[in-house]
Amino acid sequence: MRVNLTEAIKLLQEGEVVAIPTETVYGLAADATNDAALQKIFAIKQRPADHPLIVHLHHINQVQDWVADFPATAVKLAQAFWPGALTLVLPAKAHVSRVVRGGESTVALRIPNHDLTLTLLKLGQLSVAAPSANLFTQLSPTTAAHVEAGLGQQIAVLDGGACQVGIESTIVSVNADGQWLLLRPGMISEQAIAAVIGQPSLEMVNARSAVPKVPGQHLLHYSPRTPLSLFQDKAALHRSYLSQMSVHKTCAALLIGEGLTPDCAVIKLPAIPAMAAEQLYNALHTLDDMKVDELLVELPPDLPEWAAVRDRLSRAGYHPPI
Ligand code: TXA
Ligand code: MG
Repeated sequence: MRVNLTEAIKLLQEGEVVAIPTETVYGLAADATNDAALQKIFAIKQRPADHPLIVHLHHINQVQDWVADFPATAVKLAQAFWPGALTLVLPAKAHVSRVVRGGESTVALRIPNHDLTLTLLKLGQLSVAAPSANLFTQLSPTTAAHVEAGLGQQIAVLDGGACQVGIESTIVSVNADGQWLLLRPGMISEQAIAAVIGQPSLEMVNARSAVPKVPGQHLLHYSPRTPLSLFQDKAALHRSYLSQMSVHKTCAALLIGEGLTPDCAVIKLPAIPAMAAEQLYNALHTLDDMKVDELLVELPPDLPEWAAVRDRLSRAGYHPPI
């Protein structure tokens, strides 16, 4: 069910759930101060309760309502990248709902860079918790139609067009002493963050003992329903294609840029990281809908600028040990 801005605000204020656009992916939003509303997110997504949610704000001044500490390092990052695809995990104020925190002592905050959603948050005087608007472990949505295909037509969706970044935000946790750690790669790279802070991440300096737990980062994530195999290059992918053909299996392929192309349904992502990220989930949704026996996916090069796309593809292609 598509709703307009006024309807979306009213529903959220009444404790209902609304799928909202952001620049990364669509989020399944609920009032972050209303536990009953937040429980609906977990129920709809079939998400385990110990997976914390990201709280979406519209102004940096609101951060102090949520955190016990806003270290200078985190302030620098917020000033450099907000509104934008960066989530900061910070020590939570005691009153912050345990449902949002998933039982952690920290809370995740982000100001999304999407005008419609910023207007919604401002006009409605709302702070909303919003995980990606898909079922647990499935592909994230980058259009209103993806949300409806995954969660059903009855879900209220505020249509803000296709997401421009296309994959989930970079998540960084910052300790009270200002040390930081990358929890999830995104299109704002670890190197760009280190450059703003002027100090490498804890992991970069290899301080393993200080690494906190990362809830909700399951290996099996962002997955299409069709079995998916990953290949380091087009030649390896093509060999697998030929062997699939020889046993009369159907397949479809996702390639990075031009080159050796199998004679099956193929989507080529541009060999430019930002463009590939923008198109990634739509390509995977499209390939998944073809209902072939196997998706053959080329991994982009193992370079920093491709880290986030490689991360999502690796999770989509992860096979749990038998
Ligand atoms: O781009 C995004 O971040 C999108 C849009 C909607 O904003 N949201 C998103 O939410 O990707 P979700 O729930 O799919 O992923 C949120 C992840 C969790 O899986 C968890 O790893 C991390 O954020 N997270 C949230 N709160 C945390 C906390 N207090 N400590 C550590 N990790 C946390
Ligand atoms: Mg998600």
